[in-house]
Amino acid sequence: VTTPIYYVNDRPHVGHAYTSVACDVLARYQRLAGREVLFCTGTDEHGQKVEEAARRRGISPQELVDEVSGQFRELAEGLEVEPDRFVRTTDQGHQRAVRHLWRRLEDSGAIYLGSYEGWYSIRDECYYAESELVDGRAPTGSEVEWTAKEPSYFFRLSDYEGRLLRYYEDHPDLIAPESRRNEVLAFVRGGLRDLSVSRTSFRWGVPVPGDDGHIVYVWIDALANYLSALGYPGTEGGAPSGDDAILDRFWPTALHVVGKDILRFHAVYWPALLMAADLPLPRRIFAHGWWTINGEKMSKSEGNVVDPLRLVDKYGVDPTRFYLMADVVFGSDGDFSRERMVLKVNANLANEVGNLCQRTLTMVVKNFDGAVPVTIGQYTQDDRAMLESASLLRGKCDEAISTQKIHRYVEHLVAVVWETNQYIDRMEPWVLRKTDPERMATVLFVIMEILRAVAILYQPLIPGSASKILDQLGVPASDRSFAHLKSGSIQPGTSLAKPVIIFPRFDLP
Ligand code: MSP
Repeated sequence: VTTPIYYVNDRPHVGHAYTSVACDVLARYQRLAGREVLFCTGTDEHGQKVEEAARRRGISPQELVDEVSGQFRELAEGLEVEPDRFVRTTDQGHQRAVRHLWRRLEDSGAIYLGSYEGWYSIRDECYYAESELVDGRAPTGSEVEWTAKEPSYFFRLSDYEGRLLRYYEDHPDLIAPESRRNEVLAFVRGGLRDLSVSRTSFRWGVPVPGDDGHIVYVWIDALANYLSALGYPGTEGGAPSGDDAILDRFWPTALHVVGKDILRFHAVYWPALLMAADLPLPRRIFAHGWWTINGEKMSKSEGNVVDPLRLVDKYGVDPTRFYLMADVVFGSDGDFSRERMVLKVNANLANEVGNLCQRTLTMVVKNFDGAVPVTIGQYTQDDRAMLESASLLRGKCDEAISTQKIHRYVEHLVAVVWETNQYIDRMEPWVLRKTDPERMATVLFVIMEILRAVAILYQPLIPGSASKILDQLGVPASDRSFAHLKSGSIQPGTSLAKPVIIFPRFDLP
């Protein structure tokens, strides 16, 4: 599972937090499902943009990238995003991978020396054709500048049009969501021009092997991080067979999660580069949408950039992760509002799961000598229906996660908790206390079983809170993987502590 590697010309904001949290949820989910996962992230530290940002601040590019890369690490820590690899493009190992990839492209005849003139947007680190400009700006709204004719290496992207289209057709799941896939197809069908892949106008980057007046185009450098994270190319000079051995384990199932703005680089340029280097393609490329803030584009100049760590300070890490993943369909654009965050977190976490836990466990502790009741009656139709909903959860969540519908995964959990709250209100265990204590025990046991399933499945999204729920339910740490959904259960007789509130309620801003 990979996030894009983040540019270091700017402080981390909620958009970056979004991609990272999403990947962390996907990685944790698969790990709990028993799969071997390698979760990679990092920082994209080369290029003109960084060179200029450093100059503006009067520090060296290296000082700048060290500082901001550190902020991205802190962002990950603060959000409890736990990558296995953090690639920095200034790492020696990464630069070696870039040089190796370049040589392979060159050896295969995919690179030639020509000259380039045209429009370039430093903010997007992207070349634009005259015909793509809108009112003298990039289609993204970024400023473009004219690059006067300079010698440049080119990648023969135009050779790959047919092969790419065939590959997309044979692998209909490669690019998602569907609407984005269609955009990519339309773009490729519209014809591909060769891509300028080196610049001579700045120095901060990886010199082209054998011609160090040129710096490798920052996107080639950046995309190679997905390989360098896996140790590519193995031994120095890496024989092709060596590459394959190292990549074998994780590369065939690689999932790139990217924002919609950088899909073209991942779904067109990257596959073509891999084809040219004779490397296999990743399994899936998923593009998520963009966040606006109260309906407006987030930008430094608007002064409306949301610092995710400030959210964590104020609301805690799990509510922040929850809101980011639950509020918007993963793949669509979303609008950030603190008010909706508070409403959503209060409703789904504090009032629904939190309250259910608190009520249930308080009754258990009070009425059954501080332990899970031992004598439980026959299950009724109602009980069985509830337990059935809980046992269907795993399949539903798997289905959602395997297609990156993270919001859908959350909805399944929210729905079962909702149903359980209705069940408790219908069963009125607090009334049963006098009339039928055994029935009370049964109802509470059913709810604890459901909470156990819900909390196990919530671990990828709200790890800390889910484990607190499991602690309160007396589920041992060794019994929390998804395999235990079926094989485990709440143990009668387990002593339980008096429950404490897990999800605080927040005031509206
Ligand atoms: N460095 C490149 C990626 C190279 S990957 C080989 C880059 N970096 S970025 O820092 O600009 O963006 C990183 C990610 O953050 C992208 O997936 C981008 O879509 C995401 N977001 C940046 N702003 C965003 C929002 N406002 N909303 C949602 N995601 C956004 O691109």
